[in-house]
Amino acid sequence: MQNQKNPLSWKYMQTEFITQNFRETKELGMCLSKELSGGEVICLFGELGAGKTAFTQGILEAMKAQKPYTSPTFVIMKEYQLKNGKKIKKIYHIDAYRIEAGDLLSLGWQEIAMDKKNISIIEWANRVEKILPKNAIRIDFVWLGKNERKLICTNLPKIKKYAKKDKQEFV
Ligand SMILES: Nc1ncnc2c1ncn2[C@@H]1O[C@H](COP(=O)(O)OP(=O)(O)OP(=O)(O)O)[C@@H](O)[C@H]1O
Ligand SMILES: [Mg+2]
Repeated sequence: MQNQKNPLSWKYMQTEFITQNFRETKELGMCLSKELSGGEVICLFGELGAGKTAFTQGILEAMKAQKPYTSPTFVIMKEYQLKNGKKIKKIYHIDAYRIEAGDLLSLGWQEIAMDKKNISIIEWANRVEKILPKNAIRIDFVWLGKNERKLICTNLPKIKKYAKKDKQEFV
């Protein structure tokens, strides 16, 4: 079992998946949604067309967020109310492509990220890396070919629960 006091073992616990099309990437998002208990921040890293929105759509659909799942590119942050959500009441989908950390802070980021009733998903998380919680779920999307993507996942919930770390700490 990993030792929470050793930041190296914590940092490098990763799980990798290879997907062959949009639907498979979306299905990975659906799988992750089943492990969420509230308060998670899911940070998506990767270039244009890497599959970040495909993955997000899987989470939104599995959690029964109301369609349409339009990209938040022009609104920066889109909020979904979950009508049937028991513990999780809202999902925030953020596209950080055109913003900086200060912009997200001014949208109330710290309150949103700390609220256990919320799930936050951030595309282009590298743009706002300095204000991400230390224990955020991180997914790196790597373009392997026209239809092939590798998803490298760090801090997935099933792994996290052994570390007894449930407080959001900001860097
Ligand atoms: N294995 C795959 N997983 C996801 N998308 C794939 C895959 N193979 C091909 N694609 C295609 O790649 C594109 C992924 O688009 P998507 O909007 O999810 O990317 P994105 O990372 O959100 O891009 P952006 O940075 O522009 O928001 C889609 O056109 C999709 O059909
Ligand atoms: Mg996108």
